[in-house]
Amino acid sequence: MKRYAIMTMKGGTGKTTTAISLAHGLSLSGRRVLLIDCDPQRSVAVPFGVESPKGLADLLTSGDVDILQVRDNLFFIDSGGRKLAEVELKLGAREHRERRLTDSLKHLKGCDYVICDCSPSLNLININALAYCDEVIIPVSMDYLSRAGAEQTAGIIEEIQALNSQKPVSFRLLPTFYDARVRLSHQMLGDLRERFGERIFATIIRMNAAIREAPGQNKTVFEFAPLSRGAFDYYHLTEEILGLERSSADIAEAAPVL
Ligand SMILES: Nc1ncnc2c1ncn2[C@@H]1O[C@H](COP(=O)(O)OP(=O)(O)OP(=O)(O)O)[C@@H](O)[C@H]1O
Ligand SMILES: [Mg+2]
Repeated sequence: MKRYAIMTMKGGTGKTTTAISLAHGLSLSGRRVLLIDCDPQRSVAVPFGVESPKGLADLLTSGDVDILQVRDNLFFIDSGGRKLAEVELKLGAREHRERRLTDSLKHLKGCDYVICDCSPSLNLININALAYCDEVIIPVSMDYLSRAGAEQTAGIIEEIQALNSQKPVSFRLLPTFYDARVRLSHQMLGDLRERFGERIFATIIRMNAAIREAPGQNKTVFEFAPLSRGAFDYYHLTEEILGLERSSADIAEAAPVL
């Protein structure tokens, strides 16, 4: 089972879009995927049109959670909204509070991928996601502030790695909101490739209106506009990730259970 956190310290760079599209892309290719909304904004539930009384907030505090099936092969743990924002206070005094997610999911079976959509901050929930996941995907939109957020996130991951070398966490950057007509897009992509080299995905997510419209129709981009650039780019990302993992793929056959 491979675990990804989609995270960066900058807001609005395509984290939630990437989490949803990648999770759906992997599930369409026959992998069993558990998508977890780790953001109190609760955006992941929108395209799936679901609401769950017991989400991540309950999992972290009481160990009790609803795992919803939202598509074939695709399962979802809702964030809990405001309750998740309050979890930090509740967990404040507990021991090993940064390992609550790891401990809660240690018996998880029946999944090939877990994907955590994170908020743009360094809070306790994100520290839990970093402790749980093997790899962080850092979506970086083609502007200076997003690049600064990506640098900051990469630095945090490296620091955590230095503190706990037994738990390897790698990261890769995903260029998002790329617009071929804009000079800054070319410049930013060139700078990022020079700075991060192999740590950048070959896939580039281009600016695309269908991506923005899909959640309003309770659809992912693959359902809303399967022939759009957005669907093509996220299909490409899915294939790139599957290509990287293919050697270790051992496909699950049952629904996820805790
Ligand atoms: N490639 C794209 N082209 C056009 N619009 C996009 C693209 N990717 C994302 N969007 C839109 O941009 C907005 C922000 O995207 P998203 O919610 O995925 O970012 P985020 O990083 O999760 O934000 P936050 O930091 O608030 O969690 C959304 O309205 C989304 O539909
Ligand atoms: Mg988001």
